[in-house]
Amino acid sequence: MSLLIAMTGWDLESWRQRFQRHLPALEIVALGEAFDRRSVRFAATWKHPEGSLAGLPQLEAIFSLGAGVDHLFADRSLPDVALARVVDPDLTARMSEYVVLHCLIALRQQRLYDRQQREATWIDDRNQPAARDVRVGILGMGVLGLDAAGKLMALGFDVACWSRTRRDVQGLASFAGAEGLGPFLGRTDILVNLLPATPDTAGILNRGMFTQLARDGRLGAPMLINAGRGASQDEDDILACLDDGTLQHATLDVFRTEPLPAASRFWSHPGVTVTPHNAAMSDPDAICALIARQIDRLERGLPLEYPVERTRGY
Ligand SMILES: NC(=O)c1ccc[n+]([C@@H]2O[C@H](COP(=O)([O-])OP(=O)(O)OC[C@H]3O[C@@H](n4cnc5c(N)ncnc54)[C@H](OP(=O)(O)O)[C@@H]3O)[C@@H](O)[C@H]2O)c1
Repeated sequence: MSLLIAMTGWDLESWRQRFQRHLPALEIVALGEAFDRRSVRFAATWKHPEGSLAGLPQLEAIFSLGAGVDHLFADRSLPDVALARVVDPDLTARMSEYVVLHCLIALRQQRLYDRQQREATWIDDRNQPAARDVRVGILGMGVLGLDAAGKLMALGFDVACWSRTRRDVQGLASFAGAEGLGPFLGRTDILVNLLPATPDTAGILNRGMFTQLARDGRLGAPMLINAGRGASQDEDDILACLDDGTLQHATLDVFRTEPLPAASRFWSHPGVTVTPHNAAMSDPDAICALIARQIDRLERGLPLEYPVERTRGY
């Protein structure tokens, strides 16, 4: 009985050692080497090559090594077995740090003061809005959105969310579905994207959305923070909206092409902050421990935690 590691771009041997430590009873095999395809019961994947999980007759479950699962659905011949993803408190906390950090940079006008320092200029304009005056709108109110919303609300921000289904959380304004999107955007100064990449969310961060954001906020023009997926953003629209003032600033952790190409205007645009898709890094040991717990659940006849629904795509 074996677990197949099917990944590209990550260091295989360190993952093999970790899995072996957490699952000593299983043989750990990997794509690219000879192994008995009939003995594979579990697969742990990150951006596996298309079709590489086909022809595994005993396969029971596929575990995404990341929180996002769009890489799974990029494989059109993904076997019809149970799917699960990573939910890890450490990853969740890191994402909230990222969202809170960039909302606070905006609230406290830190970019202005960095500029003033470079120019040795002392201008104390006393025009600091309070957190309660700044409306943050979070697209996607799942595991990551909920945690970030709670931490932003604890700091006093006026937080709303938009998701497929409404959320009942005290102090959080919840909007859902197509009819909820306009009202949600109309009360948003800082738009935070934490949606998964699915066919429904492809290119959703576009001019049509940005022009509906609030124009009467204390920060001036609205801002965008995208720490979800690059596939959700129309990058030409973001640049054009920064150029014409529809957006004041965009903080982007994810891009349609990663690594971000050297020729991208995002690198040098004064209204853009680029981070290299590391808003919320995963702790590999925590991921292997989670997958070991998931396999133990299956052995005991329990359902998987954090299942992925094929029909929704997340
Ligand atoms: N940058 C990074 O380092 C990094 C790290 C980890 C994860 N991520 C990204 O963050 C994403 C979110 O993670 P999560 O754990 O919070 O996911 P999650 O728990 O699955 O939550 C997804 C949320 O998005 C909403 N949603 C999905 N499709 C929608 C649609 N068409 N319209 C409206 N709402 C929709 C869901 O609505 P319902 O509540 O109604 O189902 C849910 O609230 C991941 O998929 C991944 O792409 C990025």
